[in-house]
Amino acid sequence: MKDILEQLEDRREEARLGGGQKRIDAQHARGKLTARERIDLLLDDGSFEEFDMFVTHRCTDFGMQAQKPAGDGVVTGWGTINGRLVYVFSQDFTVFGGSLSEAHAQKICKIQDMAIQNGAPVIGINDSGGARIQEGVASLAGYAEVFQRNIEASGVIPQISVIMGPCAGGAVYSPAMTDFIFMVKDTSYMFVTGPDVVKTVTNEQVTAEELGGASTHTRKSSVADAAFENDVEALAEVRRLVDFLPANNREKPPVRPFFDDPNRIESSLDTLVPVNANTPYDMKELIHKLADEGDFYEIQEDFAKNILTGFIRIEGRTVGVVANQPMVLAGCLDIDSSRKAARFVRFCDAFEIPILTLVDVPGFLPGTSQEYGGVIKHGAKLLFAYGEATVPMVTVITRKAYGGAYDVMASKHLQSDFNYAWPTAEIAVMGAKGATEIIHRADLNDPEKIASHAADYEARFANPFVAAERGFIDEVIQPSMTRKRIARAFASLRNKSKTMPWKKHDNIPL
Ligand code: HXC
Repeated sequence: MKDILEQLEDRREEARLGGGQKRIDAQHARGKLTARERIDLLLDDGSFEEFDMFVTHRCTDFGMQAQKPAGDGVVTGWGTINGRLVYVFSQDFTVFGGSLSEAHAQKICKIQDMAIQNGAPVIGINDSGGARIQEGVASLAGYAEVFQRNIEASGVIPQISVIMGPCAGGAVYSPAMTDFIFMVKDTSYMFVTGPDVVKTVTNEQVTAEELGGASTHTRKSSVADAAFENDVEALAEVRRLVDFLPANNREKPPVRPFFDDPNRIESSLDTLVPVNANTPYDMKELIHKLADEGDFYEIQEDFAKNILTGFIRIEGRTVGVVANQPMVLAGCLDIDSSRKAARFVRFCDAFEIPILTLVDVPGFLPGTSQEYGGVIKHGAKLLFAYGEATVPMVTVITRKAYGGAYDVMASKHLQSDFNYAWPTAEIAVMGAKGATEIIHRADLNDPEKIASHAADYEARFANPFVAAERGFIDEVIQPSMTRKRIARAFASLRNKSKTMPWKKHDNIPL
């Protein structure tokens, strides 16, 4: 009996070594952890249970039958993050460069299927040379099986991708279909075609980092949601994110203990909005002051900074925040900010996460580059996302809410549940100057008359009361009381139940 147990331990030991000590050392020398070390950091101590440790590939071409490392380049299984179940796969670059074979794909599919069935998030750690070249179409088929499950899981369980090495070719499409993508600076990259192919086809010379490094994808393309300094930091941040999320679309987000009084009065907010309507202020300050313990988990921090998206907790419960940022582009909506916020709103709605919208928006950014880029359709994404959301929604207008952007930003008309305004709110079709120059065009050459018309317009519309008179604003609240008001509002909405007309699915303007 002892022999058999020893044999088992020996086989396990061999499997744990993946592609061997030399390749593990090479992985470390690049500043990267191994697949197993990453899982250890991601999950609670001792919680990991592995599946399919002894699976091998079945390829016999190119002398592959002579090399059959146990596990075939991916470590899969399940464990817990702060006690909550998650499924995980972690590609092992030391085995055939983490490339995806038929067997490797089957291992990933198995845990995807279990995660969907058992209602728990999937976290995929990607570090791979792509399709296993020796296997040809079998590996392409494997990818497509993974993709299909990504699609079926979308909106059912949270899916998180962590890119910790190369991710090239069609391999990028599995992460692209997950909810969040995290990268590691300097050691990870994603692209459909690498620098060499780019050079051949377009004659463009570009490094892998420029083409698909973390900075490219968090700042330019918005493919990735965040980038971190190293593997350890990235995995710690995944743990933090998972704490905000429900396990699946049938469960509410977790309720955490909180040590911050929901009735906390924040006097400094009474002077947050500057006297001059054109002076910016930092909307992040408001978010931090509303959140339990000031904790804000920002999503896509480095992209479209004119809008802020992320998670906070109010009374220990997760709330998704969307907020215009007056510090950047005066908080205008544009193509990038609309896309960023729309995707975030749809994630929250899919997973029953209530949405808090903080509004200070002078309108949509005008100009040919915006129109040629399709701002009409991209702006409509955000409008559509809010309009179809059935989760509890609370909106606070702090200052400007002009034009179409007023409608878009979770207005009463899109069936937001609570619409509050601060006394500093200005809700109108446009700013006083623009409005005056249009409706009093005849007086354009008389600066005095124009100034007086503008003052009239401002007196009439640069306030929240015209909207409040119509019931579009439920109440004008004192800024210092905002945390208390929104906490009470969300508490009153805990049993909200709203359904939309039956349809196969909608046709959001993609
Ligand atoms: C089989 C692979 C492999 C692959 C790497 N290896 N990629 N084996 N299939 N796709 C092996 C190498 O032979 C090597 O084995 C080990 O992994 C490490 O690779 P190196 O090249 O030594 O490492 P490095 O210099 O760090 O370069 C990493 C790399 C490079 C940039 C990923 O290996 C590379 O370009 N690989 C090919 C990438 C690619 O074109 N993949 C197909 C993409 S198309 P030894 O034994 O020496 O350690 C695709 C289609 C998917 O993925 C379609 C889905 C729809």
